[in-house]
Amino acid sequence: MDWKKNENKNHKFYIHTFGCQMNFHDSEKISGLLSENGFSEASDGEGADLVIFNTCSIREKAEQKFLSELGRIRKLKQQKPGLRIAVAGCVAQQMGKELLKKAPYIDYVIGPQNLHAIKDIVPVQDKKSVDMPLLSVAENPELASMELPAERKKRPGAWVSIMYGCDNFCTYCIVPHTRGREVCRPWESIRREVEALASDGFKEVTFLGQNVNSYLSGGLDFPGMLELADAIDGIERIRFVTSHPRDLSDGLIQAFGSLKKLCEHIHLPLQSGSDPILARMNRRYSLAGYREKIEKLRRQAPGISITTDIIAGFPGETDEDHEATMTALREIEYDGIFAFKYSPRPGTAASVFEKQVPDAVRARRLSDILALQNEITARKNMYLVGTVQEVLVEGTSEKDEKKLTGRTRSNKIVNFDPSPGLEKAKKIKMENLLPGRTVCLRIIRAGLHSLEGQLFTGNVAGLPPEDGISL
Ligand code: SAH
Ligand code: SF4
Ligand code: F3S
Repeated sequence: MDWKKNENKNHKFYIHTFGCQMNFHDSEKISGLLSENGFSEASDGEGADLVIFNTCSIREKAEQKFLSELGRIRKLKQQKPGLRIAVAGCVAQQMGKELLKKAPYIDYVIGPQNLHAIKDIVPVQDKKSVDMPLLSVAENPELASMELPAERKKRPGAWVSIMYGCDNFCTYCIVPHTRGREVCRPWESIRREVEALASDGFKEVTFLGQNVNSYLSGGLDFPGMLELADAIDGIERIRFVTSHPRDLSDGLIQAFGSLKKLCEHIHLPLQSGSDPILARMNRRYSLAGYREKIEKLRRQAPGISITTDIIAGFPGETDEDHEATMTALREIEYDGIFAFKYSPRPGTAASVFEKQVPDAVRARRLSDILALQNEITARKNMYLVGTVQEVLVEGTSEKDEKKLTGRTRSNKIVNFDPSPGLEKAKKIKMENLLPGRTVCLRIIRAGLHSLEGQLFTGNVAGLPPEDGISL
């Protein structure tokens, strides 16, 4: 039977995604591949014939979350024997065959370099595939030139992969072990996707890679690639994640000043403020070198928002090292951070380092870091009260349906109630506030995680005039 021609799409899948943006984007590709293959999406695991776990193994906690969810779906399978279970993502790659041995009720194991193998999963009536567990965890150097259909759920922003894998081998990190060696996607392939997104009404692209600054394809480097992307009509905003500080070049810093669409935000993981710890993490930069780059960025793009990742309690971290991180946070004043307790990962160099820090100490240092940063984030957000910001509307606010939500160019979430603006300035039409529109908002309140805005109807240099709406 040719399932691609199956029109009633009775076969349902449900994806449970853990981990980073790359994994969430991979899930969009899994949806795209399965939809082409005769499946449609269920709203939960209970309503599905095929449940896919797109897993993360960055920290033990992420793995545990997956295992407890897997246990729940296993019970469901006992009541519904036709249900099939696929494990994709980083745990699939890391454990491979072992996963099938430990949990024989899993039907498919598909690593992140082999998503295309999802095509081999056929709807449940085809007996052959039920008897044959699919295992696709081989290295796949072809990955960079594969164009997999992505079914995107969110608008007006879209994720676009520009490179896969990582060659950095930071000593704590499992990613190079699960995502394989670094490969870059050719520009022509990226361009086709971005142009298609623009003609489909997307307004923002976020280029994805574990270390986008080292992008190099056919002689084109990352700033060069951004310049070409900046020229694509229809796209209004460009972002990227993640940058390795060592590879942050002057060319990229200048791009923040010269490329109109490149948004003023950079996520630049510091990990630790102590040089000896950075050396043992194999990060290959010093705090002074890092700070010099931050100063250049702030000179080039005043007001640029800078966020980071911090690991608390890396092996051998002393109270002094921890204090160095606290001082760095106080001095750099990030707009936001993600901080984590160090988690030893199997197969990584640091997992067998001496002087592992006791869990209670790691936890205490993490809470010190978070408390300090909360003060800084709150203060930095307060500075924005009274300013006017360009906000790309994303949809209705999760907490309050009467409000709309969007992001500033600096990636801060702003919620706003459109009705007062609509009443005051009759020329503001509701359709101009739909997702994908850019509005000017005056910031009237600041919280830790979001800001509150009001439609701005005045004129301000450099921003769209008249009714606060750019048409
Ligand atoms: N490629 C990105 C990061 C990917 S992982 C980069 O280099 O910036 C995201 C973050 O998880 C890392 O920046 C790091 O802070 C954290 N992380 C990675 N491995 C970890 C581990 N073993 N324990 C705790 N945090 C970890
Ligand atoms: Fe992990 Fe380091 Fe690669 Fe980031 S750069 S994915 S932290 S090895
Ligand atoms: Fe997790 Fe893999 Fe991303 S380990 S953070 S899903 S690259």
